[in-house]
Amino acid sequence: MAYDLLIRSGTVATASDVFQADVAVHDGTIVAIGRNLGEASRVIDATDRLVLPGGIDSHVHISQPSGDGIVMADDFESGTRSALFGGNTTVMPFCLQTKGQSLREALSWYHGLAEGQCYTDVSFHLILTDPSAAVLGQELPALVADGYTSLKVFMTYEDLRLNDAQILGVMDTARRTGALVMVHCENEDAIRYLVNAHEHRGDVRPLAHATTRPTAVEREATHRAVSLAEVVNVPVVIVHVSNGEAIAEIRAARGRGRKVVAETCPQYLMLTAKDLDGMDWEGAKFVCSPPPRDEAAQAACWVGLEQNDFDLFSSDHCPFRYDDPHGKLNPRGRQSFRHVPNGIPGVETRLPILFSEGVVKGRITLERFVALTSTNHARLYGLSRKGSIAVGMDADIAIWDPKAKRTIRHADLHDGADYTPYEGLEVTGWPTTVLLGGKIMVENDALIGTKGSGTHVARALSSLAKPLETSFNVGTFHPTRLA
Ligand code: URP
Ligand code: ZN
Ligand code: ZN
Ligand code: ZN
Repeated sequence: MAYDLLIRSGTVATASDVFQADVAVHDGTIVAIGRNLGEASRVIDATDRLVLPGGIDSHVHISQPSGDGIVMADDFESGTRSALFGGNTTVMPFCLQTKGQSLREALSWYHGLAEGQCYTDVSFHLILTDPSAAVLGQELPALVADGYTSLKVFMTYEDLRLNDAQILGVMDTARRTGALVMVHCENEDAIRYLVNAHEHRGDVRPLAHATTRPTAVEREATHRAVSLAEVVNVPVVIVHVSNGEAIAEIRAARGRGRKVVAETCPQYLMLTAKDLDGMDWEGAKFVCSPPPRDEAAQAACWVGLEQNDFDLFSSDHCPFRYDDPHGKLNPRGRQSFRHVPNGIPGVETRLPILFSEGVVKGRITLERFVALTSTNHARLYGLSRKGSIAVGMDADIAIWDPKAKRTIRHADLHDGADYTPYEGLEVTGWPTTVLLGGKIMVENDALIGTKGSGTHVARALSSLAKPLETSFNVGTFHPTRLA
């Protein structure tokens, strides 16, 4: 048999090993790894290159509506194209349920936007903003069975947040179905108290976004999220952890035997609150939640990456244009930080930043890099055929030039925003050729593949899930009984 493709003489890395081998691909699948594998229709010479599983970014926001006339800077075409150029082959965007909306309705809207537009595979998480009895009792269990096996809940944002009773209800459904719950941990009431105080004294500039969301609001909410998960007895994912105090809550919960998964993002390694203090509202470019903090928090996040506190390194790509009335500088955003949309772009720069700052600088091993950026995302979120270079896996592969020197410039990126928070950052290492299901999508930095090559992937249950036949103690739990 002649293979479709042979990647020859590269250094293959997985989450557990680094070795020299050829990789053979047939019908979109990795079919052999070794030496002298035989003939192929197409050969890629990977001498002096790394052959890594394509990045999986399990935390991105694309085409997410946010009211107020604000428009997200990426649709599925630009968002997945940018992801692809950054060495990713799967992204996991969120499907936001608006209040009163059924989850199926929300999903069909997002599927309509994504269909035929994607350069990478995609797989949706749900965001629950309205966990009604029908949603928790019928809809969500059916969707979990259909492969939507994870969901996010918010403790912050006025229009998205759930109260504790609602979160308990969601977690209870997760316990019955095996869905994995992700929590955005910031205490909305405490934030609103501080926002009111800041606005009252005229402190409305972007820096106030950081001072109204101090570490205490994240620490408290993290403690509450892991505690609620302990009460219901479910695993929980704490997303976008920004500092050492929140990490300490996660360590303490794990010390009690809890299954807590933790994620951090490039912004918490590379940015600080000082970036929000730019001239002429430039600070709006760095407004995201939780906010970037200080050097000590950055150092704590690095320790967390080195010492296995973190399982996931994601971008939380949530792009808005800066100089745009529909973006960061919308008319109300210019009046107060409260109206600056939260989120920053980063899906294309996530992997090069961690590779350069982490692997090249000797803070983490290449194996750990692969685990943090691909393998762990696949296992935790049930992408059974992705996340490793192994026989039987999808041939989703990123070939890296580990010595390539680049200066990050927005002009060279492929997203729909008009800036990058990392402008001018010098990095070593970049993915230069990217394969999706054995198809060459990017070759030597040039786009070869077509949009629509990426499709939606239904997922298995998380490797952490243990669905139970019956609910914990109250039959089908309705949060309204506690509200
Ligand atoms: O500021 C952020 N992180 N925006 C994206 C939404 C979220 O909370 O993840
Ligand atoms: Zn969030
Ligand atoms: Zn997010
Ligand atoms: Zn616009």
